[in-house]
Amino acid sequence: MAKSTTEQLKCIRDEIIGLEESPLYSYRTENGYYPVIGQGSHEAEIMCVGEAPGETEAKKGIPFCGAAGRVLDELLSEVGLSREDIYITNLLKDRPPSNRDPRPEEIELYAPFLDRQMYVLRPRVILALGRFSAEYLMKRYGNPDKVTGITKMHGQEYAAAADDFSFTLIPLFHPAAALYDSSKRETLIEDMKHAAQVAKG
Ligand code: URA
Repeated sequence: MAKSTTEQLKCIRDEIIGLEESPLYSYRTENGYYPVIGQGSHEAEIMCVGEAPGETEAKKGIPFCGAAGRVLDELLSEVGLSREDIYITNLLKDRPPSNRDPRPEEIELYAPFLDRQMYVLRPRVILALGRFSAEYLMKRYGNPDKVTGITKMHGQEYAAAADDFSFTLIPLFHPAAALYDSSKRETLIEDMKHAAQVAKG
């Protein structure tokens, strides 16, 4: 019998938990961190894809539960949504030391888990939070020639295609950007409003 959505997501979770070949695995276990798999509705039309867990997230195993997460919650509430309405995950599922940028080999190792989460949940709209997830998703799902900087791509709609479903990809600035640049908060709110309209169809 075909596996349910929850069963498929559990398989992905278990593989990530046991991902000893990851260069971030020993950092996880030595610090008592958790991998951060994803959270939210299995019926979500909107999936948010961040970069990688920070320290707060790795301590709790929950995506976007620190300072950047509070910004994300505010953005969602601006458009009448909450985390229960969407699904939130990251490109990397383990915290890189000192929150450094993801390395290409880490993206290569972890991105297939994101791909599988997408194929299970089949969201209509994916919000790429920040340049790393935006670049990955643009390149992987049909828009490699349209990759520019996040300053140009944010708020734009890109028609994206997986093997057996399609979705609209909308890159956004990373919510953490609003923590040190208040003009980014306004831009993020505008882009989130636009994304919510697209999701309503
Ligand atoms: N930043 C991210 O990209 N993801 C998180 O889960 C938290 C902070």
